[in-house]
Amino acid sequence: MAESTAPTTAETSEDVEGDPFSRMDPEMARAPQPAYRAMRAAMRVVPMDGSVILGGRAEVDEALRNHAVYSSNMSAVDLQNVRPLIPLQIDPPEHKQYRRILDPIFAPKKMAAMEGAVTDLVNDLIDRFEDRQGINFATEFSTLFPTQVFLVLFGLPVAELPTFMTMKDGIIRPHHVTSTAFRSPESVTYQKATADSVYAYFEEVLDRRQQDPQDDLLSQFLVTEIDGRRLTRHEVLDICFLLLIAGLDTVTATLDCMFAYLAGHPDQRRQICEDPSVIPAALEELLRWETPVMGIVRSAVTDGEIAGCPVAKGDQVVALLGSANTDEADVEDADVVRFDRTVNRHLAFGGGVHRCLGSHLARLELRVALREWHRRIPDYSIADGVQLVYTGGIRSIEDFPMVLSAPPGAR
Ligand code: HEM
Repeated sequence: MAESTAPTTAETSEDVEGDPFSRMDPEMARAPQPAYRAMRAAMRVVPMDGSVILGGRAEVDEALRNHAVYSSNMSAVDLQNVRPLIPLQIDPPEHKQYRRILDPIFAPKKMAAMEGAVTDLVNDLIDRFEDRQGINFATEFSTLFPTQVFLVLFGLPVAELPTFMTMKDGIIRPHHVTSTAFRSPESVTYQKATADSVYAYFEEVLDRRQQDPQDDLLSQFLVTEIDGRRLTRHEVLDICFLLLIAGLDTVTATLDCMFAYLAGHPDQRRQICEDPSVIPAALEELLRWETPVMGIVRSAVTDGEIAGCPVAKGDQVVALLGSANTDEADVEDADVVRFDRTVNRHLAFGGGVHRCLGSHLARLELRVALREWHRRIPDYSIADGVQLVYTGGIRSIEDFPMVLSAPPGAR
């Protein structure tokens, strides 16, 4: 999964080594759509030394569909994991056997059964600040909520929340934790130590579940079978590791992007308050427009070609999902945010065989958050004079001061 920041055409291959999102103008992370548009107008496929950046929908689709050439194996993204993450870093045909067992576990019906618990979590968080005039949306809501949902799913006590946050931050943004440059020796050492701690943490919890099974996801993994055999301990660990990094920050970033957008667009916010039935369509449109996971990375395992641009074996291929989602060649009124679209085939959850396993859970979390929040807090705005800073790659806002009653003009 993408991390930190998206490339500019001025970067060298050294800059992008290991992660094409390693350095980005903060303005690009805040409002990437104009930069995407400019890039597509100049070149829909941008070859750089060792990398190829894809900005058009057709080109991104080609890379995501052609998994025989463009692999998401361990050379695509290195998070200091010792084995491939399951199922993200497994290529077809093996990939399919994992999705076959995981898809039913994360199916819409299964997720719908969590709606009551998810609604309670949102309301419990809102209870803490509803009467206040201002909050930090990031630290008081958007980072806590998805982590709490995971604790429910994994059957773990809420006291584990700080451990989960430390583990996912240490893997996804180790350089933020160590306050050093991206891929500095300190941050790599920290990421490695965190990765080791993630394996150790889940080993211990799984041992406990083995002794004393519960009605939770971890206990379920321990008895799940592929072709008549149980998942091995390594396989279960490699699934848990991926879920931890795939399912928390992505939802946090999406909440940040959506609430920042709605704080700045009172008319559309009012639409949601006055007619909550618009929420599912609004959710899809904001996923399209904001595309919180800006891009995903593949590694070319043989020579290939995309839209006439040669791709050499070993090249890193960066599919800019946000650019594909705002490609005027594919989407009508691509630059207009409309809650009345009847067709919205966005790629915010990726595409092809690795399309997001957790999209139904993510949609449930986002839909409930939008519904409960706007029922209870219809007016809010970004604190005066604040320019929100977005992280690149996965567009979250680490410091998000929010005023809980919008200025009179915005009501
Ligand atoms: C709004 C929130 C989310 C967004 C925007 C998002 C986005 C994505 C994207 C773009 C991919 C494709 C990665 C690639 O092909 O390289 C992906 C895959 C994945 N996501 Fe999500 N995701 C979200 C929430 C979740 C949640 C809540 C879970 C946990 C259940 C999850 C689990 C996964 C897994 C396991 C994969 C890998 C699937 C595979 O390789 O077959 N995601 N997600």
